[in-house]
Amino acid sequence: MNPFTFHNPTKLVFGKGQNENLVKEVKNYGNKVLVVYGGGSIKHNGLYDFVTSELTEAGIQMTELAGVEPNPRLTTVKKGIELCRKNDIELVLAVGGGSVIDASKAIAVGAKYDGNIWDIITKKALPTDALPLGTVLTLAATGSEMNSGSVITNWEINEKLGWSSPFSFPKFSILDPKNTVSVPKDQTVYGMVDMMTHVIEAYFHKAENTALQDRIMESILHTVLETAPKLLEDLENEEHRETILYCGTMALNGITQMGLRGDWATHNMEHAVSAVYDIPHAGGLAILFPHWLKFTINERISRHVQLATRVLGVDPYGKTDQEIALEGIGVLSAFWTSLGAPNRLADYNIDDSQVEKMADLASNRGEFGNFKSLTREDVVTILTAAL
Ligand code: NZQ
Ligand code: ZN
Repeated sequence: MNPFTFHNPTKLVFGKGQNENLVKEVKNYGNKVLVVYGGGSIKHNGLYDFVTSELTEAGIQMTELAGVEPNPRLTTVKKGIELCRKNDIELVLAVGGGSVIDASKAIAVGAKYDGNIWDIITKKALPTDALPLGTVLTLAATGSEMNSGSVITNWEINEKLGWSSPFSFPKFSILDPKNTVSVPKDQTVYGMVDMMTHVIEAYFHKAENTALQDRIMESILHTVLETAPKLLEDLENEEHRETILYCGTMALNGITQMGLRGDWATHNMEHAVSAVYDIPHAGGLAILFPHWLKFTINERISRHVQLATRVLGVDPYGKTDQEIALEGIGVLSAFWTSLGAPNRLADYNIDDSQVEKMADLASNRGEFGNFKSLTREDVVTILTAAL
């Protein structure tokens, strides 16, 4: 494995009943809080009332930023930064899914940066400080609750970019499975696909001697494979919600990637697709990942074979490595389809008219992908195969 240093400063407050610890955690950082949330799901499921009444009773002064979009926008981040400055905010509290948390990371960093936050997102400038950020997660998917990543879209130029910094880790994240029970079926499916792809991105690496990491990743995938159908049969089941919530966090809090470097090209391609078409992140991933796997099948095929045999239940007897790997890709794609995920870009009415533009966006910083380096032409090939 590669030498590594691991440091994850987020305090994870996980499990049933943990909502009750909100005020205690908030009070560690101050009395003036910017509460950031999305398009209203927390108003429908009662979490908004809970958070605002708890904070008000504790004498905490609240400012609100509502309406963070799925695929959060730079314009919204800028509104949040203004609110922090005007109201002397001491803590940013994200109450929502990955989009709300990602926007809040940019707000917390932007509030302590004199220039344009887009400079930080485009890596032209580095953050040196941030307001503290706390989160109450409502959707098991991105892992944003326990990592430093954030993905922001600038619609003026159709760019959806990921960035991260040591200053963008949440200080604390409250993960009470109760908060995820109201997630509708489609978003539940997207969340489970997203966390699986985070593991698969990491699984396709070139490091040697990663026995434990491989087993950790395989365990997360097995757990999602087992639990997903049960959860979709019974969306209100808090035990299944809890299992999936934990999987989502473990899939992208850095633990799977100790000592190895994952690929991440498919995430980059998906961000280009959703920068043009504003589709759900994991819908794009469910479509693109099988095509990336086919495209890279001859790149260290042992990884493909290991995934197929150890995770996807392929019987290798009498088959070539190619046959095993292809069968594994088929099983994975069929599993996602069985959950209700899309499997062609046409499912989102995406035709070939913008393929060149998406390829430009994906490769505007040169070749990308750590397991296999993709050129712009490779992206055109993969996107075209996915139409
Ligand atoms: O906006 P509201 O009304 O809250 O509704 C949301 C939204 O419509 C709804 N929702 C969330 N919690 C709910 C709920 N509905 C009912 N009950 C609840 N408890 O779900 C919809 C989607 O929410 P969103 O936050 O957009 O989903 P997700 O968590 O999948 O986040 C997606 C974003 O995260 C980025 C993606 O690119 C995308 O922009 N990613 C962030 C990563 C990171 N920071 O590490 C990594 C990921 O790979 C990903 O790229
Ligand atoms: Zn993702």
